[in-house]
Amino acid sequence: MTFLSKAADGIVPGEIVRLDASRADEILDLESIVWSSRFPPELNRMNLESLDFSWAIGVQVPGAGGGRLAAFASAFSFDTPVPGGRVAVAGLTWVSVRPEFRRRGYLRALMARHFEDCREREVPVSMLFASKMAIYGRFGYGLGSVGARLRLPRGAALRELPGPAPEVELRFETASFEAHDGFVEAVDRQAGHGPAARPGWTGLVTPGLRQLLFVDEPPSDPRLERGRILMAWREGRPSGYALIRRDDGWEDGKPVGTATVRAFQAVDPASAHRMWRALLDLDLITTVVTPGLAPDDPLLQWLDEWRDARPLLIDGEHVRLVDLPAALEARRYAAPVDLRLAVRDRLLGHNQAVWRLEGGPDGAQATKASDFAADAADVVLDVRDLGSLYLGGRSAVSLADAGLLAERTPGAAASLARALRSDRDPGTAHIF
Ligand SMILES: CC(C)(COP(=O)(O)OP(=O)(O)OC[C@H]1O[C@@H](n2cnc3c(N)ncnc32)[C@H](O)[C@@H]1OP(=O)(O)O)[C@@H](O)C(=O)NCCC(=O)NCCS
Repeated sequence: MTFLSKAADGIVPGEIVRLDASRADEILDLESIVWSSRFPPELNRMNLESLDFSWAIGVQVPGAGGGRLAAFASAFSFDTPVPGGRVAVAGLTWVSVRPEFRRRGYLRALMARHFEDCREREVPVSMLFASKMAIYGRFGYGLGSVGARLRLPRGAALRELPGPAPEVELRFETASFEAHDGFVEAVDRQAGHGPAARPGWTGLVTPGLRQLLFVDEPPSDPRLERGRILMAWREGRPSGYALIRRDDGWEDGKPVGTATVRAFQAVDPASAHRMWRALLDLDLITTVVTPGLAPDDPLLQWLDEWRDARPLLIDGEHVRLVDLPAALEARRYAAPVDLRLAVRDRLLGHNQAVWRLEGGPDGAQATKASDFAADAADVVLDVRDLGSLYLGGRSAVSLADAGLLAERTPGAAASLARALRSDRDPGTAHIF
């Protein structure tokens, strides 16, 4: 398919193409220009090989030597927990446009093709982590999860857990794929598939991604050590891991090291508590930086003092409902709901309609009630905002308070809020 892009300096024809691994060198060249990578070529290649090429697409522009690749994007296939079930997701990733071809509509063209691919493969939801929050709202993505990144002082006090402390065995080791992949996978399997799974939780979905978790990236700071892993067992079974990297900072003869926790996952409160205690008590370390934690993460509930932690609120997963009824039917609803939602979707016309959502804890049905008409609905909202509600981390009432959801029937926003609510805040230990 050829499309014409809107270059300010003239019309540049571009063609959306499917890419396979034989184009690896071109893709790597494009990526190294776009992302100013400091990684050695072997690591960049390994990173590329972690991709699922069945989703790989690019924009090819004509020119000397048969033209070149001006843009690239791919995705991972996985399913993620949603309240009461799981939904198939395309995890959009590696979205890149060469600097000399920016702002000509190539991202827009990639997004259109990505949504077509989702439809063809019957994947109702697309999710991504954004380099910049401002980019994806226009494509119908809403902010589905948020994380709080903390900088904790050594020894930060944690509230004690009631009852006798169960036995938790801990071990620190130098992290390696060969030694620890199985352990991490065992914990992730329980965390992402068990009854305590968070909506939006994503595992390391290709073997390449699992390998990358253990790669020692070349340190931006020469004081940074090799990656370490803290492992926890309860009753002999893997119950948690933390991947950390410390620096060996010294000032005025005193140690002022920072331990950065790159990933943390535990499957029970006792393991998580013991692990944070250990991480907050590392010798030579004065600061522990956490990954983005879901707002209801146990650590935030145990900390005696938040103020020293200087929490930074960061955006997590951005969620796009590509097949709206299929997405709404993939989850369950905490309270009975029977509402007509008028959903605006400027990009995907099949979603723009009044949808009747009937559901509860045992099942749900979303059927088209009519073409889009605000006055035929109980609530009116943009597909982007429905995406932000989808994982259950945000309230429809808060959207109404912000003027982003119009309530046509009194009480409809509160009713929708109660139905969509998740018992746990959405979030994940791994980004893609
Ligand atoms: C971000 C990036 C992919 C945009 O590609 P692009 O081809 O220039 O985007 P388009 O011309 O298709 O623009 C599409 C829309 O997005 C907007 N947009 C693009 N980049 C944006 C940015 N960084 N911030 C805010 N809006 C942006 C454009 O203004 C345009 O809006 P409009 O259609 O509503 O007028 C590209 O600049 C890039 O590769 N950046 C570096 C890597 C990166 O950040 N990738 C995203 C990874 S999540």
